[in-house]
Amino acid sequence: MRRWVLPCCLCLATARWLDYEESGATPGSSSAAAQNTELLNAMLASLCAGDTLFVPNKTFWLAGGVLLQNARNVTLHLDGTLEFLPGRAGWPEQEGVICNLNPLQPARAKRCVKEAIFIANVSKLTLTSTSGGTLNGHGKSWWGYLQYFFHGENRPRLLSIYNGTDILVEKWNFLDSAYWTFTALDVARMEIRHCTVSARVDKSDDHDLGNMDALNTDGFDVAGRDIHIHHCSVWNQDDCFTVQPRDRTGINADCTENVLVEHVNASGLGLTIGAVRPTPGHNCVRNVTFRDAYMLHTFKGIYLKSQNSPVEGVSGEISNVLYEDIVMDRPSQVPIWIGPAQEADSYKACSLLWPEVPFADCSPPGASMLWANITLRNIRVLNPKQSPGLVYGNPDRPMQNIHFENVVTVNPGLRPWGRSYYKCASWPLQLACSCSVLASSGSETLFVSVDPQRTFYLR
Ligand SMILES: *[C@@H]1O[C@H](CO)[C@@H](O)[C@H](O)[C@H]1NC(C)=O
Ligand SMILES: *[C@@H]1O[C@H](CO)[C@@H](O)[C@H](O)[C@H]1NC(C)=O
Ligand SMILES: *[C@@H]1O[C@H](CO)[C@@H](O)[C@H](O)[C@H]1NC(C)=O
Ligand SMILES: *[C@@H]1O[C@H](CO)[C@@H](O)[C@H](O)[C@H]1NC(C)=O
Ligand SMILES: *[C@@H]1O[C@H](CO)[C@@H](O)[C@H](O)[C@H]1NC(C)=O
Ligand SMILES: *[C@@H]1O[C@H](CO)[C@@H](O)[C@H](O)[C@H]1NC(C)=O
Ligand SMILES: *[C@@H]1O[C@H](CO)[C@@H](O)[C@H](O)[C@H]1NC(C)=O
Repeated sequence: MRRWVLPCCLCLATARWLDYEESGATPGSSSAAAQNTELLNAMLASLCAGDTLFVPNKTFWLAGGVLLQNARNVTLHLDGTLEFLPGRAGWPEQEGVICNLNPLQPARAKRCVKEAIFIANVSKLTLTSTSGGTLNGHGKSWWGYLQYFFHGENRPRLLSIYNGTDILVEKWNFLDSAYWTFTALDVARMEIRHCTVSARVDKSDDHDLGNMDALNTDGFDVAGRDIHIHHCSVWNQDDCFTVQPRDRTGINADCTENVLVEHVNASGLGLTIGAVRPTPGHNCVRNVTFRDAYMLHTFKGIYLKSQNSPVEGVSGEISNVLYEDIVMDRPSQVPIWIGPAQEADSYKACSLLWPEVPFADCSPPGASMLWANITLRNIRVLNPKQSPGLVYGNPDRPMQNIHFENVVTVNPGLRPWGRSYYKCASWPLQLACSCSVLASSGSETLFVSVDPQRTFYLR
């Protein structure tokens, strides 16, 4: 067995440049994965403030369970590829409370996989590259409806950050994650730029059934405050750019707020808020802007979603959200969806089969959810295969100030809502909402909102 000599373990005043290969990592060999992982973890644990860990432009195999914790002012400079061994056989696992450390992890887990890379308790972290570094999760070996049946969501995130401040991520490419790709939970002051996410089963430029079985391959999931994501692109089979809530249990933010996502390409389940599930600590997303996005053949496009909770005394909020200058080109499902999350596995979720399949249920958002000040401006939806949109609030607590300004659908599909185009509903149908098409010229159908006092109108 090869031994490596770690750079001196005392933190000196001078910043160090630590070369992974020169320190003993073996490139190009998957049989070196376990040793490479051990070395990487040892090097990450030894980083001092000011240090840079450099991965040269070669491929290094890893086994999962990479950990960086309690670090300040460190840089990971990745010019090559970190490639994770395929498959769950031999993937490192862990037990106990650590499984629920990430509050977004399915809570039932007593034993869970380790993330591919987990970063916690960091400040002033930089993930960079000269011209592009890659993490490859070999997701294909984890995807599929059958695998989902057996393992559900107990799959590793490719890169998971928890409790971090002042973070810059740039020029990294995230390929084929087994599960969510990039999660930054409870962060403050983070910038992500010039990054890409790709999770696709084949080269088809559509989200067909074959590709959609790359389940839960979320792109960028972020929660916290003061977050800027720009010049990035995502092609995946779940939420593309997702703003997740925080509540009063948060460390760096008690509500996810001040998030700007701009100049992006996205194709998957869309530019998403939530799902926001009401909690005792007021789960919350506030002041979010998505602007200048191009969405080719996306599944959903603009997607704001809440979940229901069986717990008493909970509350939640989605407020002050702007979507501006967005083009969707031939989206395959309902392009604009504002209402309950459509999913398989949460309490009183809106069924994935709704509304096509009779008796499939779609409960409205709970009355404990505040929905307010949501504006869609200059949105063009070109040739959607389905009806343009849904706005679905709770009659006991109508959504407030929902504005559609210059939201144009060209050649809208007729399924499932026919010539009403939009489904605007509360449930049951004593609604504070009416939809009709006012202006129609040629194949263009224009939907504009009037100012609603408290309730949502679309005409
Ligand atoms: C962080 O580290 C860099 C060297 O990588 C150094 O120039 C800088 O002064 C450090 N900043 C802080 C706040 O420690
Ligand atoms: C982060 O810091 C907290 C509080 O100091 C500690 O309990 C926790 O174990 C740390 N997490 C990790 C992954 O190091
Ligand atoms: C890595 O090498 C490849 C060719 O071998 C090159 O195309 C690429 O730009 C290099 N990346 C970096 C970050 O130097
Ligand atoms: C969060 O991370 C910081 C280091 O950046 C640490 O001091 C703090 O204890 C951590 N808090 C928790 C609750 O983990
Ligand atoms: C988005 O896609 C267009 C081509 O359709 C390309 O010109 C542009 O650079 C892409 N933007 C990003 C951020 O990837
Ligand atoms: C909303 O967020 C933006 C950053 O996207 C920030 O510049 C602005 O100050 C925030 N507004 C409020 C009222 O906090
Ligand atoms: C909605 O916007 C109005 C006008 O800017 C503001 O007065 C109100 O506080 C906002 N509502 C919420 C819940 O933030």
